[in-house]
Amino acid sequence: MYSEKVMDHFQNPRNVGEIDNASGVGTVGNAKCGDIMRMYLDIDDNGIIRDCKFKTFGCGAAVATSSMATELVKGKTIQEALEVTNKAVMEALDGLPPVKVHCSLLAEEAIHAALWDYAEKHHIKIEGLQKPKSDISEGEEEEEY
Ligand code: FES
Repeated sequence: MYSEKVMDHFQNPRNVGEIDNASGVGTVGNAKCGDIMRMYLDIDDNGIIRDCKFKTFGCGAAVATSSMATELVKGKTIQEALEVTNKAVMEALDGLPPVKVHCSLLAEEAIHAALWDYAEKHHIKIEGLQKPKSDISEGEEEEEY
């Protein structure tokens, strides 16, 4: 049912954790299943993503897609990171079962939410970036899950 790459990223997820003083942090949730993903980006002065870490409270497919997404955005420019869509992540994982495609959207939305946070903090506009609909970052500081 799952590709070897999905199983590998689920069992050995890359870049799990947090980044202190991250340039941008995005938290998104899937309203249907209640799964949550938080993405941290460290972006340098040239707009290059130096580091990316995540925490996912969700299903195996969500863990695998977040893990792959972090690998794909590291070293990229902000504009290149915008091209890391859920389709790109799924392709890199050799596909997901149709019922799990929605899980991959969390990774894309979490990257966008983290970039949105970065843009707001730096008072810049990132061309082509829209605020993710499932962004649940506001008022989350004291939240525990
Ligand atoms: Fe919720 Fe996969 S079932 S993200």
